[in-house]
Amino acid sequence: MKRAKIGGLGYYVPSRIVTNDDLAKLMNTSDEWIQERTGIKERRYIVPGEDTGANMAAKASRIAIERAGISPDDIDFIILGTLSPDMDFPGTGVLLQRELGLHNKGIGALDIRNQCSGFVYGLSIADQFIRTGMYKNILLVGVEIHSTGLEFNDRGRHISVIFGDGAGAAVIQVSDDEDKGILSTHLHADGSQAEELCTLNPGSVNSPRLAPEMIEDGSIFPHMNGRLVFKYAVQKFPEVIGEALTATGYKPEDIDLLIPHQANLRISEFVRRSLNLPEEKMYNNIQWYGNTTAASVPIALTEAWEKGLIKDNDLVCLAAFGSGFTWASALIRW
Ligand code: UT7
Repeated sequence: MKRAKIGGLGYYVPSRIVTNDDLAKLMNTSDEWIQERTGIKERRYIVPGEDTGANMAAKASRIAIERAGISPDDIDFIILGTLSPDMDFPGTGVLLQRELGLHNKGIGALDIRNQCSGFVYGLSIADQFIRTGMYKNILLVGVEIHSTGLEFNDRGRHISVIFGDGAGAAVIQVSDDEDKGILSTHLHADGSQAEELCTLNPGSVNSPRLAPEMIEDGSIFPHMNGRLVFKYAVQKFPEVIGEALTATGYKPEDIDLLIPHQANLRISEFVRRSLNLPEEKMYNNIQWYGNTTAASVPIALTEAWEKGLIKDNDLVCLAAFGSGFTWASALIRW
């Protein structure tokens, strides 16, 4: 069976830069606290009315499609990961299809809800479709708009300082070289921890789904048990990377570049040290974009590729952990 590969990458982040000092004007926080606890220096926020999830996804996608050497018309399926869809339903995948002018072709568009692990989950889905021959050029996108759903006050400060907006895209195609491409994907979840990192409302279990009390009690904003998430993350990242290495017969030192979901620089550093990888073998850009959940892995992957940090034949490892809890890894021979 032929392997699938990433044939083109692209990303887009909004132009509006929000620094830690900007946030310190809105809540009791500081540049020092944010950098020390998370590594973040600044993040991007959309300008409402200018950027939408669908058009950020389209901007990233056009770059990825061009770099894959194909035209938008060649795309035969769309997979889009987000926890912040432009509207409650339909999903942003169909909006991206329309934005790219592909609606007349009627190609399928699948939205997935796997938060920080969304891109790696999507890569695994695309991998199956490519290897079975069902599709030839799958557009896989992670896109997120957090800035319109955060609480800019002291109650929300431990969450609001972390997240940012952006989009990353990849075109998944058949690999001509059977030794190259996606070597493995591993997907996991633990639903018993769902409420430890979630946005409860507006949820369909409530009638009405949205009430003024929900705005007042903050349940329309993300809730995160930061210390618990941290504890799980530093355990599950190495575990799922180890699973990928065992399944493919590689060792940690064989990894040329690790691209972890950009959750927290301290988490990533812990993972790097536990694998005994030198600093140059892990790519971080959380300093500039914060945590963009589903968009974080494809944005980091694209940036690393653009900087020439991924060379032909390199072994690239993607890994993610987040709300659900969900976690996942992918090993790619470039
Ligand atoms: O994408 C995956 C999902 N998310 C993650 O992976 C996040 C995982 N968790 C984390 O990254 C960390 O837990 C945080 C960065 C969220 C918080 O760091 P922490 O070292 O776990 O801090 P903490 O929650 O234990 O809080 C330490 C102190 C508290 O004050 P007291 O109780 O010691 O007086 C907080 O109230 O820091 C306070 N604090 C803040 N201070 C200034 C919390 N948020 C802030 C803030 N600015 N923004």
